[in-house]
This record gives sequence, structure tokens and C-alpha cells, in this order.
Amino acid sequence: MSARAPRGTRDILPTEGRLREWVIDIARERFAAYAYAPIVTPTFEETEVFARGVGPSTDIVRKEMYTFEDLSGRSLTLRPEGTAPVARAFVEHGMHKLPLPVKLWYLAPMFRYEAPQAGRYREHWQFGAEVLGSEDPLVDAEAIALLADIYARLGVPGIRLRVSSMDDPESRDEYRARLLAYLKPFAGELPQEARERMAENPMRLFDAKHPGVQAIMASAPKLLSSLSPAAREHHGRVLAALDMLDIPYEEDPTLVRGLDYYTRTVFEFTCDRLGAQSGIGGGGRYDRLVETLGGPPTPGIGFGAGIDRICLALEETDRAPEAGIDLYLAVPDADLRARLVPLLADLRARGLRVESDLRGRGLKAMLRHADFLGARRVAIVGPRDFAAGLATVRDMATGHQEEVPLQGLADRLAGVVA
Ligand code: HAM
Repeated sequence: MSARAPRGTRDILPTEGRLREWVIDIARERFAAYAYAPIVTPTFEETEVFARGVGPSTDIVRKEMYTFEDLSGRSLTLRPEGTAPVARAFVEHGMHKLPLPVKLWYLAPMFRYEAPQAGRYREHWQFGAEVLGSEDPLVDAEAIALLADIYARLGVPGIRLRVSSMDDPESRDEYRARLLAYLKPFAGELPQEARERMAENPMRLFDAKHPGVQAIMASAPKLLSSLSPAAREHHGRVLAALDMLDIPYEEDPTLVRGLDYYTRTVFEFTCDRLGAQSGIGGGGRYDRLVETLGGPPTPGIGFGAGIDRICLALEETDRAPEAGIDLYLAVPDADLRARLVPLLADLRARGLRVESDLRGRGLKAMLRHADFLGARRVAIVGPRDFAAGLATVRDMATGHQEEVPLQGLADRLAGVVA
């Protein structure tokens, strides 16, 4: 056994943990403002949910899933993404009968067997949103605006938004045939991996890093310039709404998202502080997914945002929440410490963040401990103070000290800190 987390996974230690909690608090508060309700789905699903939902030509389904058989021989898969499970739950619980659209948000770990590197993990966390049951382009704009709003409130630096359309499946098939016809004469020049991608999904070649492939794709026909009239109108309305909301974006005809379920609107936010793994959140419309999973025809749109990457982007900013505690109760006497347990509980019941010594330290060591914990104040209660019904309260920033009656200590501190 090695005392290391499995390859591609990581421990989130307290400094990042605090930042991460703050990120999630802001996201949660914004989801509430946009009238989303929370949903929690299982960490694993029947493999079919992803095989059918995410799509057989995707990297996720072809080579990244953590699939296993349980003891009764069922094929199960650890959730690689959040949309297919939410659509599965929508169908299972007949949510199409609810007033539509149904707006759901989630916070969950995702599992993908990818090559680990900075910002790319085999277990990562996302918060995400799914809106089911409306085709209105304003829903697309609202979902994009919500994610932009969250990044803005978090102060994530260097954010860019790219938007495109994947058209409806029927017209996309026509486009795909044209793209293949364009690519055929170049097939001999393409590296092996690109040829495989071409067979699976030629649009993925827009994502290629290989300069030769990039050059070929630069002159390839673009789906965005041949959208069906309905998809074109939809796209125009989404962009018009983004303009109204003053959300800056770039239209990018080469934007391909790595999931098969997308129809019409797709979008991706990148962060220029993140290096190669710059995708910090993305999503799009999936008007056929619910049907694919056995439900009634129901349009949908949503996004997922990578919390690990948001934290990475925020690490170099001063956006981290304040660490530390409000009070360190220093009681350098074992008997007295036991008698002051109710006072500690009272202080905590008032919402103050309070710590006390739990190791029998002497007063000096307690003060060092208080400093390590980032205590704003230390209340010292020695046997003589206690007899006099007093505590000495020291402000750790200014060094200012005063005697405070023990009886009123909780009231007084709750007032000062509030
Ligand atoms: P996705 O683009 O695959 O979309 O993932 C969403 C976000 O999760 C990415 O933008 C990125 O920030 C983060 N992410 C993805 N893979 C990793 C990884 N290996 N390590 C760290 N972070 C990662 C989806 O998953 C769709 N379900 C989004 C969606 C919802 N579309 C419609 N509704």
C-alpha cells in the first residue's frame, strides 16, 4: 500500500478548502437568485445512461469511463459528467408533468480516466445547472449570464466567452457529409489519431493541436455559416440577448464540445491564467437528450463549471476568504478549563468561531497556537481572573488588552464581532 492518493486524484487541503467553500457558497447563492432548485443524483449510474446519453463517439465514452461490474454483474459507471444523470432523473420521476421549465443545479465529483496534468484530474468537481422544458433562446442567454455572473462575483481573472451553434442533428448530418468530402483528399496527410477522429466525428478535428491538421481545418467549411433557418434564428436571438445583457462574447465557429448530445447553442468560458487546461466552464443545449433516454421530447440546456480550475485561477488573486477564528480562549489551568466548557459552548452557540487548547499547553504555547490559528482575539482566564469574575481580552492585531467581566464575555464579543 502506498500512502498516496491514486494517480490523477488529489487531496484538497484547508487553504484551498476554504477558498472552495467560498466559491460554492457564492454559486449556491446565485443559483437561488435565478430560481434553481438543487438535485443530487447517485455517484454511479447504469453504464447505458452515459453510453447513450453522452454518446458513443465521445472520448468520455470511448476511453475515459470508470466502468465496473458490481457483485450481481450489473455494469455501472462512475459519473463522468452531470447532464445525462439529471436527464435520467427527469425521465424517471416524470418531471415533464411539472410546470416547465424545471431548473436544477448540482454540485458533484466527476470521474474521467484522462491523462493527469495541471488542472486536469481523474476526479474533479463541478457545479452545474440544467434547465429542462423550454426552447426559448432567452433561456440560453440566461444560463450563460448566470455562469458569467458567478465568475464575475468570484473575481475570476482573464475570463473569455466563446459561443457557437451545433445546429439541429438533421442539418448537422448534411454538414458532416460536406466536411468529410472536404477532408477526403487530405486523408493521406493526416496523422493516425486525426484519421481516427475523422471517422468518429470529423468536427473534433477543429480541436486538433497538430499544426498540419489546424492548417487544413482553417479552410474547412464551418457549420456556423450553414445553419438551418430555425437554428440560425435561434442563434441570432441568443446573441441579441447577450448583447442586451452586456455580456462580452466571441462567436467561434471552431468551438466543438466533447459531448454528443449538443444541439444549437454551445458555449465555453476559458480563463487565460490556466495554461493548457483553460476551459473553466461550458455547456449548451441538448434538445434530444431526454428522448434518447426514453422520455418525452423535452428541450434542455445547461452548463458545468470546474471548481478545481476556478480555485486554481483564484489562487493568485486576493479573493480568498479571510482565514482565522474570532477568539482563542486561553485557560492555563486544567480544572478551570473543565469548568469553562459551558462558556466555550455559549460563545460557539452565538456563531463565533472559537478554539481553545486541547493538549494541556502552557500560556505561552497557547498564545503561539492562537497565532497559528489566526485568532483575532485571545481571552485569557487564569485562576485569579476567574476568582475575580474577569477575563483579559487581548486584540492580537493591536496588542490592546482589557479586562472584561466573564459573565458578559459572550454578549460583548458577539457584539464586537457581528
Ligand atoms: P465539460 O466541458 O466536459 O462539460 O466539463 C465542464 C467543466 O468541468 C469544464 O469546463 C472544466 O472546467 C471542468 N473539467 C472537465 N474535465 C475536467 C478534468 N479532467 N479535471 C478538472 N476539471 C475538469 C460537461 O461536463 C457538461 N455536462 C456540461 C453541461 C451541462 N452541458 C450541458 N449541461
